[in-house]
Amino acid sequence: MEKVLVLGSINIDFVSFVSQYPKPGETLISNDFGIFQGGKGANQAIALAKLDVPTLMLGKVGKDALNDFAFSSLKESGVDISGISKSKKVSTGSASIWVNTQGQNSIVLYPGANGEIDEDFIFQHEKFFDNASWLLTQFEIPLESIFFALKLAKAHKLKTIIDPAPVREIVNNDIWELVDYLLPNEIELKEFTNTENVLKAIHILKSRGVKEVIVKLGKQGAGYEDNGSFNLFSALPVENVVDTTGAGDCFIAAFLYGMIQWGNIPRAIKIANLISAYSIQKKGAAISFPIKSEIDWKKLE
Ligand code: RIB
Repeated sequence: MEKVLVLGSINIDFVSFVSQYPKPGETLISNDFGIFQGGKGANQAIALAKLDVPTLMLGKVGKDALNDFAFSSLKESGVDISGISKSKKVSTGSASIWVNTQGQNSIVLYPGANGEIDEDFIFQHEKFFDNASWLLTQFEIPLESIFFALKLAKAHKLKTIIDPAPVREIVNNDIWELVDYLLPNEIELKEFTNTENVLKAIHILKSRGVKEVIVKLGKQGAGYEDNGSFNLFSALPVENVVDTTGAGDCFIAAFLYGMIQWGNIPRAIKIANLISAYSIQKKGAAISFPIKSEIDWKKLE
């Protein structure tokens, strides 16, 4: 099976489950608390590995005890961790997360070692680009490094797929022609194109060089442009949404799994809708993603 190189963030998530968000100056008692593996890069790598896709993670952890947590959760899920190094100066990235009773989250991120991923780091790991077929990355590491990695990926003939989250201002529009698949949500789409019209936004991104744009619309599902119309695939109904943290990560990994297996965008979106529906029914990000045997594939038809 084609191999995926995931370049991105590795965080530890400190999650409080609350009935409501605290106001400034207020102290609230949470209903539950958990420490989970997080970071969009690590989450996406774990989601792929759980689907049996050969996956290598390129990233950085800190000089603290949290790095053991990260190394173990990635390794236990089957991710190749030989592209992860330890910072000598800063801590592992962390996220303070509140999840409310509807499963929605608010996140405060400390980048830590993720912020140290620079061009040199990527260049030192160039050998990993040789035997991979895809580069998957997100916007939780410095943008210059993403740009550099995309150029390297193209030089090594890799296909590229990007989760442009969290949303960032793009000053160098040259980045877009290096992107084969872009999976923004509506907020990101508007930030990049200045329009709320989804089809128009897709056309703008394609005119800048992105090959395919798959728009994630949360509860509504996801879609892409097909012969001038927006082709929407509905999300699966979920009765009890527990925690939506990492659902987008599970979605993009499952989409990529679908593309590797069938090379067909509509089928890959349906697979991503199916698999990400599992992730919102359990607490935590990476830990909530299903392994292949847990998935009811009949629901695809
Ligand atoms: O996408 C969810 C992730 O965003 C969390 O795991 C958190 O670490 C932040 O990076």
